[in-house]
Amino acid sequence: MAVRVVIGTQWGDEGKGKYIDMLANDSDLVVRFSGGNNAGHTIVVDGVKYALHLMPSGILHKGKTCIIGNGVVIDPAVLIKEINGLNEKGVSTEHLLISDRAHVIMPYHRELDELQEKFRGSGSIGTTKRGIGPCYADKIDRCGIRMCDFIDEDLFKQKVKANLDIKNLMIENVYGGKGFNADEVIAEYLEYAKFLKKYVKDTNSILFDAIHEGKNILFEGAQATFLDLDFGTYPYVTSSNPTAGGVCTGSGIGPKLIDEVYGVLKAYTSRVGAGPFPTEQDNEVGNTIRELGWEYGTTTGRPRRCGWLDTVMIRYAARVNGLTGLAINHVDTIGKLDKIKLCVAYKKDGEQVTHFPASLQELEKCEPVYEEFDSWKEDISGVRSFEELPENAKKYLKRIEELVGVKVKLIGVGKEREQTIVV
Ligand code: GDP
Ligand code: IMO
Ligand code: MG
Repeated sequence: MAVRVVIGTQWGDEGKGKYIDMLANDSDLVVRFSGGNNAGHTIVVDGVKYALHLMPSGILHKGKTCIIGNGVVIDPAVLIKEINGLNEKGVSTEHLLISDRAHVIMPYHRELDELQEKFRGSGSIGTTKRGIGPCYADKIDRCGIRMCDFIDEDLFKQKVKANLDIKNLMIENVYGGKGFNADEVIAEYLEYAKFLKKYVKDTNSILFDAIHEGKNILFEGAQATFLDLDFGTYPYVTSSNPTAGGVCTGSGIGPKLIDEVYGVLKAYTSRVGAGPFPTEQDNEVGNTIRELGWEYGTTTGRPRRCGWLDTVMIRYAARVNGLTGLAINHVDTIGKLDKIKLCVAYKKDGEQVTHFPASLQELEKCEPVYEEFDSWKEDISGVRSFEELPENAKKYLKRIEELVGVKVKLIGVGKEREQTIVV
């Protein structure tokens, strides 16, 4: 039995989906534990591209049980669209299970996300406007609607009415927006509930039984360490805990059951939305990386901000998540540049800093310290062993391993799941 976790170590979009899809092959259950349809995971199988938002990426493997855990927030219409879209492509979703404790994203959550961003003005977070933050806020505020409430018609009606009594006041009187008609919302959402009801289960006990039967479990991270509500660049973060601790609270397993935690990173860094980014290259270098790596958001289509790899961040991610291995993507992409820079530390007020600060004001004062590497300028997309890689690529990867203190176990040399070197 193995319980493995895949986590993003940067600001998301590291290519987690590709590895989850790959590791799902020898897993029995694949479990999403946090976030919602703010995630966008691109997986390319035999030239066919799949963009998944809520559905665990393991769904592309026949017969694997896929769980959407209690830590996830679910927009029912989005999930139904994803189920139908996969079915149309011949992908079965009959092994999908949804936790009865997962929370439902309601239309007033999306509206509030939109309005709050507008009101933040120049301080806006750049959210995906999918209602993620307001839905988690209701969960914490104890007025959220869980899947078990959603499929109970009478309870659902009561909860929607009680929520809208307050939300409409806020939407209309505070933000000047347009409120919702409770009956219309209820009528629309009861249809979604009917559709999804058969998937809603006590996934916590199913997971518990599977672990005790010795099954292989894969936990699928969405978002990433620096978008984590506690450990990320607050307030420029998402509203959940996508770090390894979130596995336990977002699915209901004990921490001692986890065997492996893979941290996924790119050979450079990208970020969508606002917030600090010490190694950002808002210049020709960043533009080149964006075009070479095709760095445009899977969820919102926004161009991603690009810059050099920052090992201060990855070292911090290794500690926060207890990483047991690194999975580095886009090694093919970075090798197309003439020279490569790697951030090895920060300099602040003349002193070397090797720990990522909590205060954004402190972070602002940090200047990256770079080491420069010669590139390899070779097509490595067909390479399948570490030994076959160009010497300069090996040097770059070895230095990352040394600075982070965690072994590189997987190397991505292209989009396809087969374009992976297992070290
Ligand atoms: P996720 O959210 O972490 O699953 O990542 P995304 O799917 O949002 O973004 C990763 C992007 O990089 C996708 O377009 C992938 O197809 C692509 N990708 C992943 N790994 C590699 C790699 O090793 N090389 C190249 N060239 N592209 C990759
Ligand atoms: P995957 O799983 C990249 C970012 C948004 C915004 C911030 C808050 O594909 O790696 P939210 O809508 O969550 O309240 O927005 O978080 N963000 C992501 N950026 N990849 C993601 O997911 C993201 N999920 C949220 O851009 O800056
Ligand atoms: Mg993504």
